[in-house]
Amino acid sequence: MQFEYTPIRTRAVFAENAALKLKDEVEKLGCNRVMIACSAGMAKRINHIIESLGAMCAAIYDGAKPHCPEQVAMEALDLYNKKNADCIVAIGGGSTIGIGKAIALRTDAKFIVIATTPCGSESTPIYGMLIGNHKKTGRDPKVIARSTIYDPVLTTGLNAHLTGTIGMNSLAHCVEALYAKDQNPISDLYAIEGISALTKGIKGSIINPADISARSQVLYGGMLSGYCVNLAGIAIHHKICHVLGGHHGIPHGESNSVILPYAVAYNETTAPSAMEKIMAAMGTKSASGGIYDFARDINVPRSLKELGMREDHLDVAAKETVETTPFNPKPVDFESVRALLQQAYEGNRPIAF
Ligand SMILES: [Fe+2]
Repeated sequence: MQFEYTPIRTRAVFAENAALKLKDEVEKLGCNRVMIACSAGMAKRINHIIESLGAMCAAIYDGAKPHCPEQVAMEALDLYNKKNADCIVAIGGGSTIGIGKAIALRTDAKFIVIATTPCGSESTPIYGMLIGNHKKTGRDPKVIARSTIYDPVLTTGLNAHLTGTIGMNSLAHCVEALYAKDQNPISDLYAIEGISALTKGIKGSIINPADISARSQVLYGGMLSGYCVNLAGIAIHHKICHVLGGHHGIPHGESNSVILPYAVAYNETTAPSAMEKIMAAMGTKSASGGIYDFARDINVPRSLKELGMREDHLDVAAKETVETTPFNPKPVDFESVRALLQQAYEGNRPIAF
């Protein structure tokens, strides 16, 4: 056995109504001037959290927007500096967490997240913002949240479509971690547990949006998916999703929902041990088929055709994927990736390569 493992320096607090423990978390970090970042929609739902902070709440920035545009992040940073805050608390999903990361990167702010989706971004060193039409990303351990509060009560309003598509992204991060470049026995533990929690939790949350236990499972799986990205990395699946998002305008949750069964089928014969773990975690007889059935059960998009992708753009997407995928268990070549994309375009049951 040969591997390297660095524990992730982050704290997690899980409980129903855990958001009300924010003040404790701020005090543990030695801070007393908090700026909250959130979206305008979220701002209407967090009065109880703001009140629980009392005089500690120095500012609220409620302008978070999808993909964290540069102007939004810089506006928030400006307010943070003007108010002499010492702690940034992002309440929301990936875009809001992006604001917290932008501030944590540029200041000495202590960074806390109250996660309202299972995106997992709070525990990854990857940050990004939208500059013009381009998503610029980087890596720095400074942007990993010092503490994250997971409160299922805050997620009961997430509709079935978002629960499903954001959940498929988290599931994909766990699945890919089982065969990504830096996969190791510890990341496997997180991945297997994440797959099991997400598949059970997403189904339960869609059947009954107020099911606190199912919502907790989704948040738990989301947290683990962030650990998976951090420890193991990504492979062809996420590279395809980035290509589809970058040049073809397909949102990340949607591309994850469609591509995952086919990316797994692509690696099915090359990474048999990872496939065993996926099947065991999901209780299915096929890894790619099990994921395909799961996507159907939770009613997320299942073909590139239904997402409006043009068939004559598959060639260029395949070419770009080959150019930008440095590692994948099954070697990446144009013919094979083009065949994968054709399967994803049509949306039929995946065929192993
Ligand atoms: Fe992702």
